[in-house]
Amino acid sequence: MEPFRFHLFICTQQKPEGVPSCPASGSLAVLEGLDREVQKRGLRPDLQLTTCGCMGLCNEGPVMVVYPEGVWYRRVQSSDVSEIVDAHLLHDKPVNRLVWNDAPAMRAMSIEHGEKFRAAMAAREKAGTLPDRLDQMIRGYMPSRCILTALELDIFTAIGEGANAEQIGTRIHANARAAEMLLNALVALGLVTKSGGIYSNTPESARFFVQESKDNHRNGLLHTANIWHRWSTLTDAVRHGTCIPIDPHNNARDSTPEWTANFIAGMDRNAKARAQLLVQALGTAGVRRILDLGGGSGAYSIAFAKASSDVRCEILDVPEVVPLTTEYVNKARVSAQVNLRSGDMLTDDLGSGYDIIMLNAICHMFSEEQNQQLFRRARQALAPNGRFVVQDFILNSDKTGPLHTALFSLNMLVATDHGASYSEREYSSWMKNAGFADIFRIKLPGPSDLIVGLAK
Ligand SMILES: C[S@@+](CC[C@H](N)C(=O)[O-])C[C@H]1O[C@@H](n2cnc3c(N)ncnc32)[C@H](O)[C@@H]1O
Ligand code: FES
Repeated sequence: MEPFRFHLFICTQQKPEGVPSCPASGSLAVLEGLDREVQKRGLRPDLQLTTCGCMGLCNEGPVMVVYPEGVWYRRVQSSDVSEIVDAHLLHDKPVNRLVWNDAPAMRAMSIEHGEKFRAAMAAREKAGTLPDRLDQMIRGYMPSRCILTALELDIFTAIGEGANAEQIGTRIHANARAAEMLLNALVALGLVTKSGGIYSNTPESARFFVQESKDNHRNGLLHTANIWHRWSTLTDAVRHGTCIPIDPHNNARDSTPEWTANFIAGMDRNAKARAQLLVQALGTAGVRRILDLGGGSGAYSIAFAKASSDVRCEILDVPEVVPLTTEYVNKARVSAQVNLRSGDMLTDDLGSGYDIIMLNAICHMFSEEQNQQLFRRARQALAPNGRFVVQDFILNSDKTGPLHTALFSLNMLVATDHGASYSEREYSSWMKNAGFADIFRIKLPGPSDLIVGLAK
């Protein structure tokens, strides 16, 4: 029984550069076009579009199969998409010029491909060739560095509506030859297009990397570019067990107003996307006073203030950040409900009588001892039955994953004196030792979860 009228499988098997494959022949553009067209024609509830691995017909790609009929298409291009949708999916007439129904030839090609593939794998194994997966991981910094440099130079904004390498080089005050090399690499990475010597942004780059775009993420991403310098100290940081000053020039970068503004913009990008999840998970019933320790851009307090006019929030952050927080809070028009306090959460009096104290993306900055002490002080500052909420990336019990969280622990090693990612067991035991009861974890969509304890 078929749950859908049509089930389309399109091959998107990535292969090393130079090896024939469906993506190299344009299957990703076909997939995108099909998705758009299917949506536009209202076919979605009766149609399932699935990507699949190699079918052994790579020289004839992009390959696509339409079930339940079992019609095989080859060499499909994005320009064929509307014809396939119109003729085959809407009028049950397959597009014969693209249909491939020579079963014996298809079988022979697929079997030969399989044999060649296995022989190539065996030869590589025998020769001791470094597996592609390892090679890609090792060189992973190259594409990353390319994009970060492009963002630092604001090259996507400089491309504007389209320009040649010389014009772009002039606009970003860069060497013309080098700017062209960078632009060509960005084309190879699929972030820029080039036609007749004119470079243009892809729709994605125009949306996310160009200054005037409402979805521009550049400012927040510049924090990632700043952190790059710290990651280059990882080897020494592992030797010494703490963050390492880079050099006088780079070290100073970490404390400039620009660095701080990028950092808070980066935090805001994540926090804004997660704030509603937090408000929904905790609710606002009976909540009057919230203490937001290290509130950064104030995104979480802003979301609570907007969710209930009864809520009053207090954000405590360091003196360099509070003026930035003020701007975010004013822009959100919630300054009547959100107070700002400048200070140090590790040493300043936290106050008392709060219904919620939250630590969003804070604990990973501190050592075990600092966190334990902070948890004890927070316990004292809560009203009876008040909730203590930690939101962070949480390691599994043997600390080997999730991958992002294990890597983030190293991010904190290179960026802080004592920071790290911690496990649920560690957070729960610190909360228990601080006197919290009914400790539980709330899983949120995305990379971070909540651990909540009650001040009974
Ligand atoms: C990783 S950011 C998280 C910001 C915000 N909670 C969020 O999730 O978007 C850490 C914040 O804690 C602040 N912070 C760091 N150490 C602090 C301290 N000792 N006292 C007060 N705030 C601190 C930083 O200035 C920054 O705003
Ligand atoms: S890569 Fe698509 S069939 Fe082999």
